[in-house]
Amino acid sequence: MLLRRAFMKDNFLTLGIETSCDDTAIAVMRGGRDILCSLVSGQAEDHAAFGGVVPEIASRRHQETIIPLLRKAMRETCVTPRDINLIAVTAGPGLMGSLLVGVMTAKALSQGWGVPLLGINHMEGHLYAPILAHPSLEPPFLCLIVSGGHTEIVFAREGRNYTLLGETRDDAAGEAYDKAAKLMGLGYPGGPLIEKMARSGDPDAFAFPVGMKGTKSVEFSFSGMKTALRTTADKIITGGGELPVADICASYQRAITEALLSKLSLAAEMTGARRIAASGGVAANTALRDGLREIGEARGWEIFIPPKDFCTDNAAMIAAAGYAAYADGERSDLSLSPDPAWSVWGKETT
Ligand code: KG4
Ligand code: ZN
Repeated sequence: MLLRRAFMKDNFLTLGIETSCDDTAIAVMRGGRDILCSLVSGQAEDHAAFGGVVPEIASRRHQETIIPLLRKAMRETCVTPRDINLIAVTAGPGLMGSLLVGVMTAKALSQGWGVPLLGINHMEGHLYAPILAHPSLEPPFLCLIVSGGHTEIVFAREGRNYTLLGETRDDAAGEAYDKAAKLMGLGYPGGPLIEKMARSGDPDAFAFPVGMKGTKSVEFSFSGMKTALRTTADKIITGGGELPVADICASYQRAITEALLSKLSLAAEMTGARRIAASGGVAANTALRDGLREIGEARGWEIFIPPKDFCTDNAAMIAAAGYAAYADGERSDLSLSPDPAWSVWGKETT
């Protein structure tokens, strides 16, 4: 691996492409960390009326956006196709129609420009977000990856060798936020809207159940929390009352944050890890970020949380994972196809 890396020049340019869900993203990175540009074109307003991502709409928007965004990135960085050494594209997991737009575009560019192509796992991309933001972060470390589709705790042991310690049994944390926001008619995506409302609410007002609390396994469950919210809201509304939205949001956010932090503590105990990272859209949540820093201080952990823009979907993290994978000798060819259920984690065997 070191030998191969020596052959990758400092000015090695990676073009990152990300279209796994509802964000079209393009990044240009020099070497393993120097981000020349990272552009994200979101579609939240297209999906807001539905309270969640509509796959057909998402793929159509990617299709319209991807080439203009690519042109913009190349204009902004003054990079020409001849300068690019690698095209790294998200090939899964994600929505099939969305992934297809990114992968087919990357394949066409690779063929047309004569540039190597590499399919990257979106979750490994999320794991590279804290690495990109914190040059001192090296394995072994734990990473909490919390997004709209996943809630996982991964142990990065060494190099690109990962173990999945546990995940959610049902909804992802971001999904729990999105569904709650839909239920209260707040809009989409739910996480930032609930976070905003929670600022003026009382987190002690409601006791939402924290799934899998007290169990000795690194597993999450958010579906009970969502059902409890529905029952609570129904009771208040049928009783003729007005929904105390801010109090509900603050209490709900506290319950989700408690679930995430308690299982992270358990995973740290199990592995002895002292370096703890977080990534994924929900890691943009201030209550989670503050809670993580507090618990880190109390337990002597080093905490690595990327800036909010790198927590949510972006192509810089895909370029960074692509650079590392390419240095490890990985290559894709034109047979690359999207895999909506692709997992790169090894399972915990102990
Ligand atoms: O990683 P991401 O951008 O896309 C996926 O791969 O899913 O994560 C999106 C998820 C959404 O469910 C959204 O509600 C949640 O992240 N999210 C947040 C916040 N910002 C985004 N959840 C809580 N607080 C936030 N500030
Ligand atoms: Zn994501």
